[in-house]
Amino acid sequence: MFVEQNVPLQAHNSFGIVAKARELVRLRSSEDVRALLADPARAAVPKFILGGGSNIVLTGDVKPLVIKVEIPGIRVVDDGTRATVIEAGAGENWHGLVRWTLDHGFAGLENLALIPGSVGASPVQNIGAYGVELQDRFESLDAIDLATGREFTLTAAQCAFGYRDSVFKHAPAKEGDLGLSGRALIVRVRFRLPKPWKPVLGYLDLERKMHECGVHEPTPRQIFDWICAIRQAKLPDPAVLGNAGSFFKNPTVTPDQCTDIIAREPNIVYYPMPDGSVKLAAGWLIDACGWKGKSVGQAGVYDKQALVLVNRGGATGGEVVTLARAIQTSVYERFGIRLEPEPVVV
Ligand code: EPU
Repeated sequence: MFVEQNVPLQAHNSFGIVAKARELVRLRSSEDVRALLADPARAAVPKFILGGGSNIVLTGDVKPLVIKVEIPGIRVVDDGTRATVIEAGAGENWHGLVRWTLDHGFAGLENLALIPGSVGASPVQNIGAYGVELQDRFESLDAIDLATGREFTLTAAQCAFGYRDSVFKHAPAKEGDLGLSGRALIVRVRFRLPKPWKPVLGYLDLERKMHECGVHEPTPRQIFDWICAIRQAKLPDPAVLGNAGSFFKNPTVTPDQCTDIIAREPNIVYYPMPDGSVKLAAGWLIDACGWKGKSVGQAGVYDKQALVLVNRGGATGGEVVTLARAIQTSVYERFGIRLEPEPVVV
């Protein structure tokens, strides 16, 4: 356990917003977590768990004790005939894990390449891209209850995964509620990679790559390379231009609402979902309202993907939030649809 005071957080959030943690503690093992909880000066203070910092907007200095989870390690837990189970420490870099699996001959995470953030944050968000969501490759996770110090294991059903959602995004509103936000610290996550491997294609961008390359039966490595190229072409690199990926979720509407919108907006991009609902491309809605390239102060809308808000240099969290609200208002006024932000405003 390693404790520091007045720690600059600019390098710890992918938006690159300038803010400080009054106190930051780095935890590298379950024992470190238990040591923190046994420390009378820190056990009961409010805490904020920081993973890779790729899904937060900092609007000022962080007063709760910031916990930086740096638990390392990747190992194969079980290499059976029907699946390989791989376990990774919550502090591992997500993309590093994807690369490790492919380097060791285990396929299944390639569609999730280049998603910024840590392994520990991946189930919180139920990260997803190009037809695969974390829940499709999830086995179980171990977490520590910050109130009691007890370590426990959760299955996929217990994580209550939804689209960019899980039990870890919901605060326990009242006694008996299952929300674990701010309550559970994820220490390690296990992934199930089914055998035989089946490629997940079918996304327009991927189909296009297959066509361009003249490859009809791609290897996991080829898909990994294509995903990296697709993402690099349309999403800004947080190391160069601060951002938190998609800023809003793609909203879901009923088929009737969708028919109504199509009648007014024939070019709208939408995807029918297996449960009968329809998902609308939030990027298209924002783009249609003319937001691409616009700014509030130093916070801007990325010019190649309107769903991504960026820090053009020195943006404050307040500017990001003001821009996000203005976008929500204009999308609501034109389409009657409320956009829900993905990142957590701190
Ligand atoms: N579009 C526009 N204008 C824009 C942006 C998008 O017209 O400025 C249209 C595109 O033409 C496309 C459609 O909207 O037809 C969808 O765009 P895209 O393929 O870029 O995907 P998305 O729905 O915007 C989602 C995820 C991404 C994920 C991609 C690929 C969400 C909120 N975002 O984006 O995830 O990488 O699909 O699967 O679900 C993230 O969550 O941070 C993220 C990057």
